Amino acid sequence: MTDASRRYRSVPGLAELGDGRIRYSERMMPLLAALGARFGAERPFAGLSVAACLHVTAETAVLIRALRAGGAQVTLAASNPLSTQDDIAEALRARDGVAVFAKAGVDRLAYYEHILAALDACADGRGPDLVIDDGGDLVSTLHTERPRFLAGVRGGCEGTTTGVLRLRRMAAEATLAFPVVAASDTPVTRIVDNTHGTAQSVIDGLLRASGVLLAGKTVVVAGFGACGAGIADSARALGARIVVTEVDPVRALDAVLRGFRVLPMADAAPLGEVFVTATGSTEVITAEHFAVLRDGAILANAGHFDAEIDVRALAAAAVAVETDVRPHADAYELPDGRRLLLLAEGRVVNLVAAGGHPPEVMDLAFGIEALALAWLAASAAKLAPGVHRVPQDIDAEAARLVLTALGTKLDTLTESQRSYQANWHLGS
Ligand code: NAI
Repeated sequence: MTDASRRYRSVPGLAELGDGRIRYSERMMPLLAALGARFGAERPFAGLSVAACLHVTAETAVLIRALRAGGAQVTLAASNPLSTQDDIAEALRARDGVAVFAKAGVDRLAYYEHILAALDACADGRGPDLVIDDGGDLVSTLHTERPRFLAGVRGGCEGTTTGVLRLRRMAAEATLAFPVVAASDTPVTRIVDNTHGTAQSVIDGLLRASGVLLAGKTVVVAGFGACGAGIADSARALGARIVVTEVDPVRALDAVLRGFRVLPMADAAPLGEVFVTATGSTEVITAEHFAVLRDGAILANAGHFDAEIDVRALAAAAVAVETDVRPHADAYELPDGRRLLLLAEGRVVNLVAAGGHPPEVMDLAFGIEALALAWLAASAAKLAPGVHRVPQDIDAEAARLVLTALGTKLDTLTESQRSYQANWHLGS
């Protein structure tokens, strides 16, 4: 641990508190537990230095412990100071000897200083062998502020769609100096994260902010993609009647065949009592819809940007706004007396009004990243600089390890089944 990372050592008992929370999450993260044991035996990161820029949470700490079991020296900076949990940072420093450069609520300047410190603390100032990033700030700082480290980097992992977009732009300009695996979009993460994790936490955020009973309500879900389909299923399971809006005929057909009513937003607007947008697009609920929404309609967004509900138009249409009628709920009063309830100011409702993803979801996301880092450690010399997909067998391996931990067994193809599938003569 470096002196700089000790700067934030604080309150007695903080490390114990953080350690207890890490161990609580650990029990819900079977994939990382299995990988920690495997890495301990195989030591894929022996002698390697990993610079990480991640939300400093209990789940991240479980990942870091697994990487360290595999022999990695890890330094950690926060990928967002607002999500830093100081007790976790302190537990990692005090219990694991990790150089953690993070403190809740620090300003922008300190945020970037921390990223630089995490890079500088790697391998006694020689820089990292591997990086793991969440949003692209560490990789971009590495290229702009510490280009002397670039030659030593074998590769990295990026865990967000936003970060992957930044990396692709760097790759298009031929600036990206090493291979990076885009861990945010694999078949497994789409199922576990976008569909199940997001659905649960969006409903959680919606309920916490509004307190509404969903049973018997008409819930309009805009966008029937990975997120929207999960939200629609979860709301229906709680007794809501679902209306889906879509622009893609294939997704709309899927929604119809799963028993959902599909309507254009203009027709859904006067029917809905609760609205959730999950399109990744913009201006999905606008002034023309506010004009016909029912009194008391609740508006929430699950998409990445706060552009899906036209909040500016809502503010312009309102004669009064009562903020914080409940935590993360503002009531907009329209000239005809109707009141519309906007949750989380139109920002991502599950991140603002609920606790984000459960440990099981982060287990898979981080487990895939840990497997990808081990793969990079072994094979990066053969990979060209640029953005790479997660290899299919890593995705399948992560799913297999979770199923094993859950005690779920699968069938295996027999030799005869394999040759049947491989041979186009058979069966004809
Ligand atoms: P997706 O691409 O699978 O689904 C989006 C769906 O919206 C598509 O079916 C598309 O046809 C539809 N759509 C686009 N414009 C529309 C419009 N104007 N009206 C109705 N439907 C429209 O994307 P996915 O994975 O479901 O993600 C959706 C959004 O949620 C993205 O912004 C993504 O970044 C975000 N997201 C949020 C998470 C969270 O924790 N809240 C987690 C994962 C993703």
